[in-house]
Amino acid sequence: MRIKIVAGNWKMNKSHSEAIELVQKIMASDYDNSVQLIVFPPSIYASEIAKITSSSATALGIQNCSEYDSGAYTGQLSASMIRSMNVKYVLVGHSEIREYFNEQNKTLASKINQLITNDLTPIYCCGEVLQEREKGNHFNLVKSQIEEGLFHLDENQIAKCVIAYEPVWAIGTGVTASSSQAQEMHHFIRSLLAEKYSENVAGSISILYGGSCNPENSQELFANPDIDGGLIGGASLNAVDFIAIANSFS
Ligand code: 13P
Repeated sequence: MRIKIVAGNWKMNKSHSEAIELVQKIMASDYDNSVQLIVFPPSIYASEIAKITSSSATALGIQNCSEYDSGAYTGQLSASMIRSMNVKYVLVGHSEIREYFNEQNKTLASKINQLITNDLTPIYCCGEVLQEREKGNHFNLVKSQIEEGLFHLDENQIAKCVIAYEPVWAIGTGVTASSSQAQEMHHFIRSLLAEKYSENVAGSISILYGGSCNPENSQELFANPDIDGGLIGGASLNAVDFIAIANSFS
């Protein structure tokens, strides 16, 4: 059985004290313990948050990593540094980084390799912009993101990854993909995995939905057979909303 995950991507939000307060509130809340909660704070707070989460089931993640091992890459964090902090999850290929830093699938494939080598779990983000959906090109686009970013991995390696489908037009816009649009794409992604690897592998990989997911729509989204949880932006900045989302699996 694949795991249910609700992950909060805080992006570039929260002061130091607000970040500590948020993680403490999350950890003090009652939530469905069959769900893996993950918080992705700004990296500067990671070391302190790692100490707070180390005694709990809430996992710590990092929002990005370098495709290189080490060296003169100002401002970057390597996978081995992240590993040394007892972090388990790292986001790769978030649409904001693809767009604002022109990140290509080839670079993302290198980042994935860094994470797998360092025994970290990548959460690989994919998703189309609105124009691609309007042109009817969304399946092709997501297929190339998955193939170019992940399909160099062998069966054991891909089984260690989590995928997040985040349609760019739904991120931070208040417009959520409908439950059927999301399920359709998740099913498509799972069928790509089954074709390339096996039904077994495809059935073991968690695929999360992200894009204006909130306590009002999470229950309907998570009720779909191929949606294994959410990657939450705005609603993860508030502990009550984040926990309500984590508690919305049927
Ligand atoms: P919102 O939930 O704010 O739309 O952001 C989604 C997202 O980008 C999570 O990575």
